[in-house]
Amino acid sequence: MYKWIFSICAAIGLFAACSNSSKPSNQLGQITFAEHIAPIIHQQCTKCHIEGEAGPFTLVTYSDIAKRGKLIKYMVTERLMPPWPADPTYSHFADEMVLTDSEIEWISKWVDSGMPPGDTSQLETPASIIKKVHLGKPDMVIKVPPIQLKGNNEDLFLVMKIPYEIDRDTFVRAIEYVPGNKRLVHHVNTHLIQFDASKKKNVFQGKTYVNQDQSNSQSIHKELGILHDDGTYPSMTPSVSNYLPGALFSFYPEAIGGYVFPKKGAFYLNDLHYGPTSINATDSSYYNIYFAPTPPKRPVSEFQIGTLGIAPVVPELIIPANTTKTFHIQTTIPQDVSLISIVPHMHLIGKSFWAYAVKPSGDTIPLIRIRNWDFRWQYFYKFKQLLKLPRGTVIYVEGVFDNTAQNPNNPFSPPQEIRERNGSMKTTDEMFQLIVTYVPYQKGDEHFDLENAQP
Ligand code: HEC
Repeated sequence: MYKWIFSICAAIGLFAACSNSSKPSNQLGQITFAEHIAPIIHQQCTKCHIEGEAGPFTLVTYSDIAKRGKLIKYMVTERLMPPWPADPTYSHFADEMVLTDSEIEWISKWVDSGMPPGDTSQLETPASIIKKVHLGKPDMVIKVPPIQLKGNNEDLFLVMKIPYEIDRDTFVRAIEYVPGNKRLVHHVNTHLIQFDASKKKNVFQGKTYVNQDQSNSQSIHKELGILHDDGTYPSMTPSVSNYLPGALFSFYPEAIGGYVFPKKGAFYLNDLHYGPTSINATDSSYYNIYFAPTPPKRPVSEFQIGTLGIAPVVPELIIPANTTKTFHIQTTIPQDVSLISIVPHMHLIGKSFWAYAVKPSGDTIPLIRIRNWDFRWQYFYKFKQLLKLPRGTVIYVEGVFDNTAQNPNNPFSPPQEIRERNGSMKTTDEMFQLIVTYVPYQKGDEHFDLENAQP
């Protein structure tokens, strides 16, 4: 509404008259921090630009923001911040980080007009903003032992076991992985091992971690002490907490998700991947655990297609030097499902990513389109409502990779052949994947709101 009045005033050249009108001062022309700018920044920027998050400085108070006014204006008008690679004209997601044209105009006019603060006495406090980003104070924290990273410019892949013991079996609603070194943690896949307490005396026995490429998975399991004392495998819930570059913690509404959290258990990290660093560094990551009073009602499942997934990349993912090449993945959904979120995944030379679904009726459902792939920002794109895909729906994915010297993200100069190497996951190898989280469909899911989950 403000924008509308504002534009009319500006358009008819009455800007001064408008802002000096007898209406309550702050309304027109005078865009103030307190009234117009703070709500935008606090909603769209602060979740990353706050103590402990990935942003390089905090954007909370008037002075935080005014200090960088010009740079902020540039970043928002160029749509570099907030980072949101998905095309907002193709599909929409919950908590989409996209500024409207009028929000950008306000920020820009506010900076140009000398950044008036307005009445800042009623502004949101950092504490109340943080509360919205996280689920609140965790019930329990489980630390990942500090990992020393050598400055050798090489990727590091670890398989880890982080055991715990509590006094009784319980349930959890959410498990949040908090990376210690956000610059170096590339990704983590966390599974939850549920030991049978009668078959495991000491959950802490065994190594904490081994190098992933060291040996085969059976011997890794032995070294880490993942088996029961009688040599049988414990049960394991996959993907209870995952992290990718730029990802923000996202929790489900209470009616879905959740896990059984036994008295004796362990997180199994397969794997924890650190990107290369040229200087020695340390990572101290941890998990925030949020208990639930009742067993999970609708456990969340996951499948992936493409690299390491249930449907292959076609043709084989090999991108010759000095070429730009297109690949496809397709899969048919065997049962009615309700999609929660999707994660497109590629590495450095990804150029674009496009996924859509075609129902048996022939209707096309746009899933996601990323015109300019950006390795730095990989999200769990959560739909606004559960998205029903009936049995027989086909998901199609198209990915383009640019292995030319013109691609500034090409890790090799001159370009050399890049391929998928048995899912080696090295940053300089490639991957092409769509990860899908879902629950089996239930009547009414189409109206199930994922956006306004209450902490
Ligand atoms: C998802 C997390 C995230 C969100 C949301 C976000 N930022 Fe950032 N921002 C970052 C990170 C991380 C960097 C560090 C540079 C990089 O990695 O690109 C950054 C860098 C910046 C910079 C410095 C750029 C430079 O070249 O020095 C500015 C200014 C900025 N952000 C402003 C904003 C504003 C304004 C918003 C909201 C409209 C916003 N950011 C939203 C994560 C975020």
